[in-house]
Amino acid sequence: MPAEEATVRSSNTSFDVAVVGGGAVGLAVAWRAAQRGLRLVVLERGEPGAATSSVAAGMIAPVSEALMSEQRLLRLGLASAAAYPDFIAELEEATGLDTGYLRCGTLATARDRDEAEALERELSMRRELGLSVRRLRASEARRLEPALAPALRLALDVPDDHVIDPRRLTAVLARAVVRAGAVLRPRTEVAALTLSGDRVTGVELASGDRVAADQVLVAAGVWSSALPGIPEDVRVPLRPVKGQTLRLHDPEGPGLLTRVLRMLPGYIVPRGDGRYVLGATMEERGFDTTMTAGAVFELLRDAVELVPGIGELVIDELVAGLRPGTPDNAPVIGPGALRGLQWATGHYRHGILLTPITAEIAAGLLVGEEPSELAAAFSSERFTGRAASGPRGLAVAT
Ligand code: GLY
Repeated sequence: MPAEEATVRSSNTSFDVAVVGGGAVGLAVAWRAAQRGLRLVVLERGEPGAATSSVAAGMIAPVSEALMSEQRLLRLGLASAAAYPDFIAELEEATGLDTGYLRCGTLATARDRDEAEALERELSMRRELGLSVRRLRASEARRLEPALAPALRLALDVPDDHVIDPRRLTAVLARAVVRAGAVLRPRTEVAALTLSGDRVTGVELASGDRVAADQVLVAAGVWSSALPGIPEDVRVPLRPVKGQTLRLHDPEGPGLLTRVLRMLPGYIVPRGDGRYVLGATMEERGFDTTMTAGAVFELLRDAVELVPGIGELVIDELVAGLRPGTPDNAPVIGPGALRGLQWATGHYRHGILLTPITAEIAAGLLVGEEPSELAAAFSSERFTGRAASGPRGLAVAT
């Protein structure tokens, strides 16, 4: 869907909330907040969903991505994965569009003894955490996915980890945002947050225009912390973590793989229609998004060793994105230390997974609800040392 179809131009320049960033997170928060009666504008410097969200593979994989040291994040991820079916049903009902949500499950794989030992450790940890994972012999895994190479040593079946097409998701969210009554402004760069004392008054655009808003929600991924106008001691610390990916398709159509395959350290994600995403590197090199021959070589070498048929696929695209990582790799959701400032950023490897729960939490906080115990764990206070300032949000008559 062209972005224009989902865009409403408006002369109104005063809103309850201005959302800076029109990726999956910003759009989903705007949709949920508009449903709760707030007047919103989403300001996106490019096209909606065209930055980091368009590079994401779209894994909804809290179990595969679980770490013993990140149990609050795991709880948030499980809650978001559980919210996905209703979130998608509601979005598709509201727009009549397909989000590309594929309830396909995941296989984690090991190709040699070292990887098999590592996978056994991953299995024990997940069992300790009470997560749903099943050990499969190589022959059992190959019965599920016949394209797997004979070299496979061991696999784990992770039946509840699924996937969505983030490019479709953001197109659908863009339409839902507009249908819910919010204003979506693509190609609109925000130059700075505007303040009166310690109170947010809106934003100034690169064009010089001003947009007045009682609250500004910053959902600009790794660029969130660089927004001019936010005092240094209020900023959320973020670092870019580059991921290089390949988009491929099978000229023979769908069927080579039906589940997400995870390797150490990459993954192959099927879209269900013969398209695949192969990813992804983890590189801390600043704001560089170049693709490198070495990374493409390693991704393809590992994937072809695991699934020889990958060698027959057509390469459509090489694309890199920047994951927004906080110091504890968990997101920041909710009020900042300025009255009217709200954050929804720092989602690192989990932006698409955490989209529904972030939208629900952030929309609640924007209308002035108290955060749940789970949501409170993701406050900016853990980095800034400064409590959220003033009223959390507007009181909205319901
Ligand atoms: N969630 C997978 C990645 O960030 O690469």
